[in-house]
Parts: sequence; C-alpha cells; structure tokens
Amino acid sequence: MLQQIYGTDDVTPYWIADMDFPIASPITNVMQQLVNRELYSYEFDSQTVFEAISTWNKERHNLDLKPEHFVQVPGVLSAIAMLIRDFTHEGDGILIQTPVYHQFRRLIESAGRQVINNPLKIEGDQYVIDFEDYEEQLKSGNIAMILLCNPHNPVGRVWTKSELQKLVSIAKKYNTTIISDEVHGDIIFDGARFTSIASLDYNNSLTIIGSPAKNFGLNSISNGYIYSDNQMLREKIRATSSSMSLDHANAVTMYATIAAYQHGQEWFDGFLNYTQTTRNWIVDFMAKQLPQVKTFSPQGTNQIWFDFSGLGLKPKQLKALLTLEAKIALTPGTWFGEEDENFYRMNFASPLEKVQASLQLLKSKVG
Ligand SMILES: Cc1ncc(COP(=O)(O)O)c(C=O)c1O
Repeated sequence: MLQQIYGTDDVTPYWIADMDFPIASPITNVMQQLVNRELYSYEFDSQTVFEAISTWNKERHNLDLKPEHFVQVPGVLSAIAMLIRDFTHEGDGILIQTPVYHQFRRLIESAGRQVINNPLKIEGDQYVIDFEDYEEQLKSGNIAMILLCNPHNPVGRVWTKSELQKLVSIAKKYNTTIISDEVHGDIIFDGARFTSIASLDYNNSLTIIGSPAKNFGLNSISNGYIYSDNQMLREKIRATSSSMSLDHANAVTMYATIAAYQHGQEWFDGFLNYTQTTRNWIVDFMAKQLPQVKTFSPQGTNQIWFDFSGLGLKPKQLKALLTLEAKIALTPGTWFGEEDENFYRMNFASPLEKVQASLQLLKSKVG
C-alpha cells in the first residue's frame, strides 16, 4: 500500500490510525484460551460486552450508559452507513465539519446523500466550530443529519461540553439528527475532558461509542456499538441490523472486547501516558526546531496535524521532502477535505525513538 500511495515503500508509515504497540496481555490471554479450546461454536453474549463498556465509561468519564440501550453492529463505519440509510433519504444533505475523517464523505456519497461542509475555523492555535455557518446550513432545510467527529480526527480537538451543548441546541431548533462518532473518545490528554453526546439532553441523537479499535489496538477485529436513549431510534437500527443478519457477534471480537474493558485499564493508562509524552515531545521539538511548521497540539486522539505552508514549498516539493528525503508517510490533508495542500496528519502511536528519528531527519533535510 505504501508503494501505491506514496510511490515508494522506503518510508516509515505514520498514516493510518492504528498503533505500533503489542496489545494488552489480558486480551492476548483470552484469545489464546479461545484458540486452545479448539472450538468455535455459535456464541451470543452481547450483554456482557455492553455491561463492560458501560462500566468502563462510568469509571473513565463518569458517563452513565444503560447496557440495554446499545445496538451492536459489525464496525464503526458500517454503523455510520446503516444510520445514514435508516435516518435520511436519497438526496438529503448530511453535514460534516472539514477537515474530517475521510471515510465520512465516502459513506455519505456512496449512499446517494449529499455532503454539506461546515468547515472548522482556526482560532489562534486551535480549530473551532463555525457556529454561524452551522446554523445557516441547518436553517436552509436541506440537512437531515449531522455527522460529528467527537473527538475530532484529524485536528485533535476534544470538543468541550459547552461547544457540544451549543451544537445540540441548534440541532434541536431544526430537529436535525446527530450521529456522534466517538471512536477516539478514550484517547484524551491532560487538560481536556471528553463529553459524549449521549450525556446531553437530545433524544434525536445516536452515539457510536465504545469500540476498542483505537484505544486497544484492535482495529481489524472490532465491532461497532451504537448507543441511544431513544427507543424508537434504537428499534429501527436493531431491526435493520437483524434484517441483514448483521447482529451476530464474532466470538474472537466479543472475548477481546470484554477482556479489554474488564482488565485493560492498566495497559490503557500506560498507553495514554506514553502517547501523551510523545505528543509533548513532538510539539516541543517542532516549536524549537521547525517553527516554520504550524503544529496543532492535539487535546486527544493519536493524530497530530501540521501546516507546512511556512516552508514556502510547492505541493510537489513538499511531498518529495516528506516522502523521499525525510522518508515519512504522513496522511495528506486533502484526504480529509482540506483544500490547502500544505496540511498533513501524522499518527504518533509509535515508539518515541522512531518518531524522534523521523522528525530529526525531517529537520536535517529542511536545514
Ligand atoms: C473517526 C473515525 N471513525 C471510524 C474509524 C474507523 O473505524 P472502524 O475501522 O472501527 O470501522 C476511524 C479510523 O481511523 C476514525 O478515525
């Protein structure tokens, strides 16, 4: 894939949002037991999964989730794809806040819906929501759904409670459904606090919460978990998922998820602490060694967002600097709907020494 995307495989990959660390041993242990059992019969125990996710969220975020208000689906993206089909019609507008996780656009367009952009604004050294534009768009009457990225990938904002309350109160005014993708909700650094849409008073909302994909490195074996306190919305999505037989748990996923949430606290705290140290190192290094590059220090997520325009390079030259000289595979900002080709995202869930060597090489090439 590196060859396909970057034209070379002589690059260190920092592009896709997964991690380069061995997973928590309680997860490995339970999977080993499963393999040793030599038996993969039908198993249905979503209830224990929902309870484990609820307890985790109560302990970590003081968030009250009712285990019976979850609906399990195969993944976060399939959850979004189903919700789009269940709660909007062909041709409807779905609002996203660019630059944003690129699959949002693909899922909306492939369902025959229209992408409506509500671009984020840069204020000082962070991104904020353009509420004026957001309300204007909702007022236009063509928006059937808001697809929120909370926390936000790639700009690393952890939306505050008051920002989310404002977003919800405007959605309420126009009775627009909110889907909140909270897959990065546990990766929150000191000074920020995660607020789930599920904790706010809006019954026209669904939250995708609790997938251990990002926080436990189970990217390719995770399910998606939709949560809503609104029974009608839940029943509708449950019926769709069951009508397609997408409501079966995979035993490997189920055991891994339960082990992660019941026994993975210590491992996760270590991971969070480590990546926060890495984030701090990157922010400090860039400020001192490459001040021409604007670095948006993430409040959460393992993604860091750079604006290289201060280097004064043409897009092609910048690409060559990054891939051929510094040998780093970053994700182009244009994937996320960023029009300016100077923006790139780096996933830093990697060993610190590796990140340090890469950015030091970049510095030496910039001069
Ligand atoms: C915001 C967001 N949602 C969803 C996903 C993908 O989730 P999954 O692979 O579990 O469907 C990602 C992966 O990067 C993501 O950043």
